[in-house]
Amino acid sequence: MSYKIHMAGRDDPRTLLQIDRLYKWQHGKEFSPATVEISPTNACNQKCSYCYAWRESTARHALCDDILVNSLDQLADAGVGGVIFQGTGEPLLHKALPSAIRRGAERSLPMQLSTNGVLLSGKLQDEILQHLFYLRISVVDSDPALYAEQHGCPENQWQTLVANLERTMAIRAQRGFSFGCSATVYLSDNNLGSLYESVKLCKELGIDFVYVTEALHTSYSPSGKKDQSSKLLPIEQIEQETGKILSLIDENFFVKIKFQATDEILAGRNKESWVDNYCQGIKFYTLIDCDGEVYPCWRCWGDKKYSFGSLYEKSFTDIWQGEKRKEIEKLIMATPPDGDQCSVCTICLLNNMLSKVTNSTKWVNFL
Ligand SMILES: C[S@@+](CC[C@H](N)C(=O)[O-])C[C@H]1O[C@@H](n2cnc3c(N)ncnc32)[C@H](O)[C@@H]1O
Ligand code: SF4
Ligand code: SF4
Repeated sequence: MSYKIHMAGRDDPRTLLQIDRLYKWQHGKEFSPATVEISPTNACNQKCSYCYAWRESTARHALCDDILVNSLDQLADAGVGGVIFQGTGEPLLHKALPSAIRRGAERSLPMQLSTNGVLLSGKLQDEILQHLFYLRISVVDSDPALYAEQHGCPENQWQTLVANLERTMAIRAQRGFSFGCSATVYLSDNNLGSLYESVKLCKELGIDFVYVTEALHTSYSPSGKKDQSSKLLPIEQIEQETGKILSLIDENFFVKIKFQATDEILAGRNKESWVDNYCQGIKFYTLIDCDGEVYPCWRCWGDKKYSFGSLYEKSFTDIWQGEKRKEIEKLIMATPPDGDQCSVCTICLLNNMLSKVTNSTKWVNFL
């Protein structure tokens, strides 16, 4: 475990370091996205109560093996900076994921895998860990029953997850792999008392960084829309728990805590707060969905009217440089969302940072 070694630079102002892309963006020139998120499949082995991506009525899809694997070549050819396997389901359910990760490594693409970790078995660990830049484990709890409740899964998935993480971190140490590893811990209505133990468990497992926060339960989530737990709990109790958790920080292990009741957590826009042309982040971060369509952002998963084009018909570069992308970008940036479509926006921080570049402070020349 070492935040200093494995996560060094994570807190630097990454958006502002995209100097070439920022220059081209400001001068209306073409540039490839810095980051592409791939959703290998929308099938999942869990049904997390908060999951924004989980849709009962949506048909299950998986990218064809060759489209998934070859997309890594296409992204490298297009000059994309990094790839995130994440999306609307559990990436490890896709049987060609190890081949895709191997291909990405052959093309020197830095890759992040976001996973609930339950399927990260010994065989998969041996196939993929050596190639990863970053492993992000979603939502750990120290209590098997609370874990099962949060993830809508049988309790034995907790034991499997913990065993997988133990071996994953041991392999990293033994074989000197460089990937950083983080986990999230989400506050829910009934787990405030176990938050400290959950973060401690992550530290004991050798994870570098834990983000303690809470999910936004939207109208798309299995739980339905509901208030954030931190707003329903006594603030003194939250602060007491927070203080205990922060005491776990040392030079090898870092924790960040953000709750809606006490902090500003950036989220996507709604109809009332919508600003036309604000969502400039979609030019720097884009998505490949499990149906092969390339989409601008999380609001659009599976919504073909916002597709830039399909990898089953065109290459990524042709799609990215095509006229359709320009049309769709204009359309989405001028269309306020309905209801919760934008609540869980993965690029809201990026949008916020880019708007600071456009509307720069009057202090800009006083360095
Ligand atoms: C949709 S999941 C897909 C990848 C994988 N199945 C996993 O859970 O990591 C991607 C990320 O979205 C987060 N997520 C899903 N619904 C959310 C919500 N309503 N609010 C905040 N984060 C959410 C999950 O915690 C996870 O980190
Ligand atoms: S958050 Fe991830 S693991 Fe949970 S239901 Fe959604 S896709 Fe599956
Ligand atoms: S989800 Fe897309 S349209 Fe909505 S706020 Fe985020 S970037 Fe903008």
